[in-house]
Amino acid sequence: MRNRVQPEVERYGAPAQLLHWLTALLVLGVFAVGFYMVGLNVSPLRLRLFSYHKWIGVTVFALALLRLAWRLVAPPPALPATMPAWERQAAAIGHRLLYLLVLAVPLSGWLMSSAKGFQTVYLGVLPIPDALAKNPPLGAALEAVHWGLNKMLLAMVCVHIAAALKHQFIDRDGVLLRMLPRRQRTGSA
Ligand code: HEM
Repeated sequence: MRNRVQPEVERYGAPAQLLHWLTALLVLGVFAVGFYMVGLNVSPLRLRLFSYHKWIGVTVFALALLRLAWRLVAPPPALPATMPAWERQAAAIGHRLLYLLVLAVPLSGWLMSSAKGFQTVYLGVLPIPDALAKNPPLGAALEAVHWGLNKMLLAMVCVHIAAALKHQFIDRDGVLLRMLPRRQRTGSA
């Protein structure tokens, strides 16, 4: 444990925080729906959940693009000076992998759906053109790719959460606070 009191830290701005927590919520939601729906027998509920799963996936993809664009406008704040070089490097690699996976997972889902012959209609109103012609063997191969990438994303999210908790409860260096809104101080000085 390095120090007891959490230091004041430079935080991500409100738009970056909002995009981060919205993505986190949607990624957890898309996993939950995905794991649940694949165990169901063919039924209207299964079809509806497949649609919800695709819509959330498309939203996660769009939010990832938005986050990357916003990152150019508002670069992340500097990390605490106490953070060792290996940890800075690990964080940079981890964040890049997370961005890569939140883009690659929905993309692989879209390719898989197209090859299986099921078009994605975002929110039931916006048809997304198929990326590939119908090709069931390719669809089956892409299903394995989608599943593999999902396992990688799940593993990365677990590592990411473990790192955030380590910073909060072991290092106590305020890194988790960077992604949280500043609490208003109350009472008189
Ligand atoms: C579930 C899906 C999640 C995804 C895909 C995700 C992704 C990311 C990415 C890509 C960044 C880098 C942001 C940037 O610099 O552009 C980031 C930062 C961060 N995330 Fe997450 N995150 C998730 C969940 C969480 C959770 C549950 C926590 C807390 C327990 C958390 C805590 C943080 C913190 C503290 C940072 C800032 C780290 C720093 O200052 O370098 N994240 N996240």
